[in-house]
Amino acid sequence: MESEKTLYGLIADKREAYSVAVSEIEALVDGEPDLIANLGNAVAVLRERLDFFWIGTYRLEGDDLLLGPFQGTTACSRIALGRGVCGAAAARGETILVPDVHAFPGHIACDARSRSEIDVVLRDSEGRVRGVLDVDSDRPSAFDEIDREGLEAVARILATSWPRRD
Ligand code: SME
Repeated sequence: MESEKTLYGLIADKREAYSVAVSEIEALVDGEPDLIANLGNAVAVLRERLDFFWIGTYRLEGDDLLLGPFQGTTACSRIALGRGVCGAAAARGETILVPDVHAFPGHIACDARSRSEIDVVLRDSEGRVRGVLDVDSDRPSAFDEIDREGLEAVARILATSWPRRD
């Protein structure tokens, strides 16, 4: 890995990189109730610490996922629930790990360079599905159980940021 690539410097051990990122996100979210500020800072920390190709958020509004804070090239603004990997993760209410996006039926190629991805469900403190955290790589099979654990830990930190919905 190239250590000059990010401002923060990369930590070679991925588990350790997630542990540092989780602490940093906890500190940034602590005392800040605004959802967009917190999603923005979370994806910025993850992009810097893990050197992701693309990372972003989608918020569930009705039957659509709407693009939220992200880092990387432009992305689809709106994805229908159930469509693509993002829509499937939100509809199923579970993390989806895709080693080869070309083998996933209905994958939406916002950036043709994407080869693998992981989508983690974002839930509020009442456990309701509110969106997804989508991470894409330009390498095949880039994500594993360490990514799942790390990103799900971030999703839990963000749970209290969602505005109440009755
Ligand atoms: N990969 C996603 C589409 C969104 S972007 O790539 C940013 C999907 O198939 O759900």
